[in-house]
Amino acid sequence: MIKKAVIPAAGYGTRSLPITKVIPKEMFPIGGKPAIHYVVEEAVASGIEEILIVISRTKNLIMDYFDHSLELEAFLERVNKTHLLEKTTVPDVHIQYVRQSHAKGLGDALKIAEPFTGCDPFAVLLPDDIYVGKPALAELIEIFESYNENVISVKQLQNEMLKDYGIIKGELVSEGLYRLKEIVEKPKIFPPSNYAVTGRYVFNSGIYQYLSEVLPDFGGEIQLTDAIQLMLKEEVFFAKECTGDRYDIGKEQDYIRLLNR
Ligand code: G1P
Repeated sequence: MIKKAVIPAAGYGTRSLPITKVIPKEMFPIGGKPAIHYVVEEAVASGIEEILIVISRTKNLIMDYFDHSLELEAFLERVNKTHLLEKTTVPDVHIQYVRQSHAKGLGDALKIAEPFTGCDPFAVLLPDDIYVGKPALAELIEIFESYNENVISVKQLQNEMLKDYGIIKGELVSEGLYRLKEIVEKPKIFPPSNYAVTGRYVFNSGIYQYLSEVLPDFGGEIQLTDAIQLMLKEEVFFAKECTGDRYDIGKEQDYIRLLNR
């Protein structure tokens, strides 16, 4: 059973500058709620009971958002506006936080989660990727529970977008399910397919060993994709084509599409 999830939210959000100088992209509003609210809701809807959010020193807004605002609640009671109290509620789940002191990439952010997840298998949700419809994580957890093997989410994207994502090569197992053969981070040329990794993962604790073997890329970042590539040589990995609609809020046109849906 997958009960723990990690949400890495420590990046600088460079794709969305200048607004991310002051507003973390995880806090971008969608229908009055921040993006990360939907990601936490997806985790809860998928059966997750404990969440670790990896933040950085500029992301305190995220902690404030999931905390009670006692002042505001007292104010609403005092002015007889208790009907608005429900608007202040957030998903009912245990959330804890850890700070990543240097932004050294997604793989590095995940390494920090090891004391939290321990030997248990766990989920990872990247908060840039918002799913509408069937919770993508629930689909991965179903696969994990049938096979007891690592699994990541994928979607088919148009060719011109493949350079911005982890791209897989898979072997068809059954409809929408692939056995992973290869994974490359942001291929500039010759992507191995048009199936891109879309921000949901379920890992066995073995991933930490591979993360510790990965060398930083040319930008000094530890890529999770590189650890997966090492791991799939030794362990079974599946890729599941998720059925919900998916939006990358780090891409302005996707964010606008999400707001207008
Ligand atoms: C990360 C992963 C990439 C994945 C993407 C999904 O990239 O490294 O493999 O396809 O998330 O959103 P980032 O968006 O952090 O550049």
